[in-house]
Amino acid sequence: MMNDYLNRVICGDALEILPKFDPKSIDIVLTDPPYFLDKMDNNWDHEKVSSNKYQHAVKSLPPGMKFDREQGKRFYKWFHKVSLEVHRVLKPGGFFFSFSSPRLYHRMACAVDDAGLLIKDCFIWLYTQNQVKAMSINHFIDKMDASDELKNELKERFAGWKTPQIKSCFEPILMAQKQPDGTFLNNMRKHKIGLLNTNIKIGKNMYPANVMMIDNIDEAIDKYFLIGKPDKSEKKGFNHHRTVKPLKICQYIIELCAFSPEAIVLDPFAGSGTTLVAAKNLNKNFIGIDINQEYVNLAEKRLGMLTDNEKTLSNRQDINTVLPIFNR
Ligand SMILES: C[S@@+](CC[C@H](N)C(=O)[O-])C[C@H]1O[C@@H](n2cnc3c(N)ncnc32)[C@H](O)[C@@H]1O
Repeated sequence: MMNDYLNRVICGDALEILPKFDPKSIDIVLTDPPYFLDKMDNNWDHEKVSSNKYQHAVKSLPPGMKFDREQGKRFYKWFHKVSLEVHRVLKPGGFFFSFSSPRLYHRMACAVDDAGLLIKDCFIWLYTQNQVKAMSINHFIDKMDASDELKNELKERFAGWKTPQIKSCFEPILMAQKQPDGTFLNNMRKHKIGLLNTNIKIGKNMYPANVMMIDNIDEAIDKYFLIGKPDKSEKKGFNHHRTVKPLKICQYIIELCAFSPEAIVLDPFAGSGTTLVAAKNLNKNFIGIDINQEYVNLAEKRLGMLTDNEKTLSNRQDINTVLPIFNR
């Protein structure tokens, strides 16, 4: 049954597609779900996300910074359902890695924990450059109905003080595992998953760590955590997805835990397919799902499954009639 889905990118809602997969069939789930910021939620619409017109309700806020108290609760409810499905499809000892945001990580971790998976660690993707999202309050002072004298006094008094958003320089990546079947050794022998491969090195031949960087930062830090810069051609000119992840990070994570040559790596929110390309580069099987046909096309193109002129054959409306086509 799972053979029907192997090495395919399926267009559809992950919560509708995942229940079709066999239980205990997947070795690793590595994903980067929508963080429920702005329009980037479980109904992520390519048109809306790409257009500046829909970026945020408060025009002066950079994308992703509209604060919404309900956002984390909505995310938890939805991600809990996703995690229950991930738990069902993973083999015993199988791994679940999920990119997250510093602001919503706590909701993700609770959703995964409450779904029955064991939280094992939190990886950090560290970087030095990012858009600063804090705002000067001069903008608000200028709008005050007050004398110029008071406005100038306030500007001077609060010079350099900004809204509470520090420059964000890391992304947490949750690491969880499905309860192994007996001991780790038994589990590895029976299900070929469950231990970590410490032959994989990071930095200058160092023991694998839960901190990873793709920028050179400083000699001492690079020595322990650098996993190499992304190849210039990695993203490809045609890839206009807004949240493409570095291939090297995905490869590092897959290499750390994929033991079996037949291991299946699943990304239920595949976007432009970085996880899938990483799995393919490592000669592992992959399955991708994305709700936007546009991104399925991008992923298929990156995977070399689609040429420039070829139209994708996948179709969101009816996955059951589409599946035979996926077997091409
Ligand atoms: C953060 S992006 C993933 C980007 C990816 N890591 C990459 O490198 O290109 C999340 C993806 O989830 C997809 N998505 C949102 N809701 C979904 C759903 N309910 N089912 C499947 N995919 C969904 C979006 O279309 C988007 O491409």
